[in-house]
Parts: sequence; C-alpha cells; structure tokens
Amino acid sequence: MSRRPGDSPVIAIYPGTFDPITNGHLDIIERGSRLFERVIVAILENYEKSPLLTLPERKGLIVEATERLGNVTIEAFDGLLADYARSRGASVIVRGLRAISDFEYEFQMGLMNRRLNPEMETVFMMPSEAYSYVSSRLVKEVVALRGSVTGLVPEAVERMIESRVGAVKRKAASKGRGGKP
Ligand code: PNS
Repeated sequence: MSRRPGDSPVIAIYPGTFDPITNGHLDIIERGSRLFERVIVAILENYEKSPLLTLPERKGLIVEATERLGNVTIEAFDGLLADYARSRGASVIVRGLRAISDFEYEFQMGLMNRRLNPEMETVFMMPSEAYSYVSSRLVKEVVALRGSVTGLVPEAVERMIESRVGAVKRKAASKGRGGKP
C-alpha cells in the first residue's frame, strides 16, 4: 500500500459476532494489524441470533487472544456498522473470505455498506488455508457433540465453550444449517 508522509493513519474495523472468536478470526486480525496502523475489532452487541457467550465474555476472550498485538483494540457496537465506522474515523472494513460460499453474503454487505458510507472501503482477506473450514458455528457444534476443537480456537475459548456443553447442545439443536459463522 503506497502512503505518503502526512497521510492520516488508516484505521480498519474488523466487525463480527465472534461467538466465539476462532483461530481463523485471529489469523485475519494478525494480517490486518500488519497492513493497517490501527485495527478495531468490533463485536456486534445487540445480535438477533442470541449468542451463546455474553458480550463481556466474547470481549474478554478477544482481549486475551490479541494482547500481544499493540495496534489492536476491542470494542462493542450496536446499530449500523457504517455509522459506527464513521464515528471511529475508520476508512476500511475488514472481512474474512474463506470460500466462494462466503462471497455472496459478503458482497451484498460490502455494497450496502458502501452505499451507507461511501468513504469506507471493504477489504476482503483470506485466512490461512488451515482455517478455511473453521467457523464459530461448527466449533460450537463439535463441542456440543464432545469432539475436539484443539488448535482451531484459543485455549481459553476451548475451555469456556467446553464448560458450557449443555447450553451449546441446546443452541446447536435449535439451529439449522447455513449462514455465516
Ligand atoms: O460475524 P458475522 O455474524 O458474520 O458479522 C456480521 C456483522 C456483525 C458484520 C453484520 O451483521 C453487521 O455489520 N451488523 C451491523 C448492522 C448493519 O450494519 N447491518 C447492515 C449491514 S450491510
């Protein structure tokens, strides 16, 4: 990225539900932190899917997993992402693309966000192929069925999700397939 002296620092927002954060999300955060001066991980607060983990739990896990990255901060947001990005002076929205199946939803969202905030660009980044099949939804499903997710999520996430196996099972049973993580 070519930048001139005096250009203002590029602030990127990496938004999501993060229920829970996975190593795929972390891979994108690390890549973003090398590319942009500042990355704000923005957790959607008021989420209709009723997350398994509370907002403070999701936030705590992300803070712990990213503490070694000096230019990454964690916040919660509510309402339109385009408005929140404007309020933070962010010019970039980062989203991870794992596979073609992610593309349609991400493309629609990117174009809608551009319409809502034309000064903002959505930048799609690929996680390491080692995480191309990892999603928060699958992690919860595997834990609910007593499978191992070691190496797919930070250890603290693994412990927290495993301690909620009962709740995870009820959530997994009440949800269909499809959608993004
Ligand atoms: O991790 P997710 O669930 O794929 O993240 C989706 C998220 C939080 C990025 C998206 O739902 C969002 O931005 N919601 C905020 C409300 C909003 O701005 N809606 C219009 C998006 S085009």
